[in-house]
Amino acid sequence: MAELADVSVRMLHHYDEIGLVRPSARTVAGYRANSARDGERLREVAYRRLDFGLREVAKLVGDPSIDAVAHLRRLRGLLLERRDRADAMVAAIDRELEARARGRKVTPEEQLEMLGARLYDAIGGAYTATRRPEPRIAAQIWDALGDALTVLNVGATGSYEPADRDVTAVEPSAVMRAQRPAGTAPCVAAAA
Ligand SMILES: C[S@@+](CC[C@H](N)C(=O)[O-])C[C@H]1O[C@@H](n2cnc3c(N)ncnc32)[C@H](O)[C@@H]1O
Repeated sequence: MAELADVSVRMLHHYDEIGLVRPSARTVAGYRANSARDGERLREVAYRRLDFGLREVAKLVGDPSIDAVAHLRRLRGLLLERRDRADAMVAAIDRELEARARGRKVTPEEQLEMLGARLYDAIGGAYTATRRPEPRIAAQIWDALGDALTVLNVGATGSYEPADRDVTAVEPSAVMRAQRPAGTAPCVAAAA
């Protein structure tokens, strides 16, 4: 199983100990015996390689409302996002190299725009398919908002916007603005 999944035996034992991937049976001699379903679950643990923390992975693979196809779609979306991000950064670096070769300096504002405000036009296409609000973060945000009546949401995908306050959203990426759910706060096309 370790060989198939390309993880160490030690890592498999660790996954077992923390309840992430529990082998369905034990042999008489006490060895862990894995079923095809365990193998599938182990593949889902590939989220770990996408730098999710083990707690997040446990939550993702433990979600009974998500089947294998949905998991694969999600993983695929995350990988595409990562690839698009790398492509966008390579393109930004190429532009800067070209500018420098011509003796022109790229301003810090231009550099930041490529890696911030403009980046999401390149990588944000699948945002709503791969992201959703995280309750622990939401709780901290509601707490921090206190009794504020007006809220400015900078970098605004529509997540974590309280419905009971006067919210103004600011989002420079057209791709991201287009994914804001219907009925959310008015959104200004601008960069902070
Ligand atoms: C990682 S997303 C954050 C998403 C969002 N806050 C959420 O709760 O899911 C970062 C967002 O910030 C936006 N952004 C980047 N640079 C910005 C800037 N200078 N001013 C405002 N928004 C910016 C990006 O376009 C992107 O939509």
